[in-house]
Amino acid sequence: MRILGIETSCDETGVAIYDAQKGLLANQIYSQAKLHTNYGGVVPELASRDHIRKIVPLIQSALAQSSILPSSIHGIAYTAGPGLIGSLMVGATVGRALSYAWRIPAIAIHHMEGHLLSPMMETPAPTFPFIALLVSGGHTQLVKVKGIGKYQLLGESVDDAVGEVFDKIAKLLGLGYPGGAPLSHLAQQGIAGRYVFPRPMTNRPGLTFSFSGLKTFVTNTILTVSKNNQTYADIARAFEEAVVETLRIKCQRALEITGFQRLVIAGGVSANLTLRDNLTKMMHERGGELFYARPEFCTDNGAMIAYAGMLRLQTKVSHANLAISVRSRWSLEELPTLET
Ligand code: KG4
Ligand code: ZN
Repeated sequence: MRILGIETSCDETGVAIYDAQKGLLANQIYSQAKLHTNYGGVVPELASRDHIRKIVPLIQSALAQSSILPSSIHGIAYTAGPGLIGSLMVGATVGRALSYAWRIPAIAIHHMEGHLLSPMMETPAPTFPFIALLVSGGHTQLVKVKGIGKYQLLGESVDDAVGEVFDKIAKLLGLGYPGGAPLSHLAQQGIAGRYVFPRPMTNRPGLTFSFSGLKTFVTNTILTVSKNNQTYADIARAFEEAVVETLRIKCQRALEITGFQRLVIAGGVSANLTLRDNLTKMMHERGGELFYARPEFCTDNGAMIAYAGMLRLQTKVSHANLAISVRSRWSLEELPTLET
């Protein structure tokens, strides 16, 4: 079985072809980051327009990269939410139209399920059950995962997502958009202990996150210091440490509550090396295992959508619905369960 995956939920146009036996045959990604950088964030209308420009050429490139013809594709998976409606509609419309023209099934995929399952494309792949920490530009969630579609939300952010805060602080430090990776890079030159920021919601029980207070605290610090490379690096380091330690404490709690020994991190922020190192150490001490995907599968991509689509299309669920519908908000807990 070979699946074409299409991702257009935000500012990356991703197209990939995944083969059930051979794995990934093609992976094409176009990032709109340059387009949005002057605005310090994604401009939804510009994003949809750019997806329209790039999607068909990217599908052509993916077919060329894999050296296969459309006739040897068995299904199409596209992101149907959560995300920006105009952007989602581009991928959903193209995906559904191609499925109609090529007479193959199409399936609507939940973007966060794509992220959540993405480490399963790697070797060794995590086995169920596990705790998933989903950290992206739009979500910060801890999920108890017992199988495909067997998701229980244990906790999430009541305000800003982790990636969003990375981007906002990076913008104040003059690092452009998206700022998570450059901020992390700058943090490496920072001196530990020059600044110490709060670890929000860690001194009370529970798995809820809140990052807006930390964002305000760091923002006020940046506004009171004079602009200086070393000072900015020191702030970046303290900020990253505060975020990573907060995430580590909550992951540890989720593992203790469930008794699970496997932790999966996914989404753009899971590319963060300090987070990976910190959680690797924690899992090692607990005698458990940490799983994550290679960096290009952490940020938005078509491969994770093709992979999730392949798992779901392998079952005998009907995917004949021709109606095109996308959702800006969509809970992981609403997804149908797959018996594996
Ligand atoms: O998963 P993703 O590509 O898109 C969403 O679904 O939102 O995540 C993008 C987010 C951005 O906020 C970006 O700054 C952040 O992931 N990010 C990072 C790193 N790489 C990407 N944050 C911290 N450290 C990184 N290395
Ligand atoms: Zn994403």
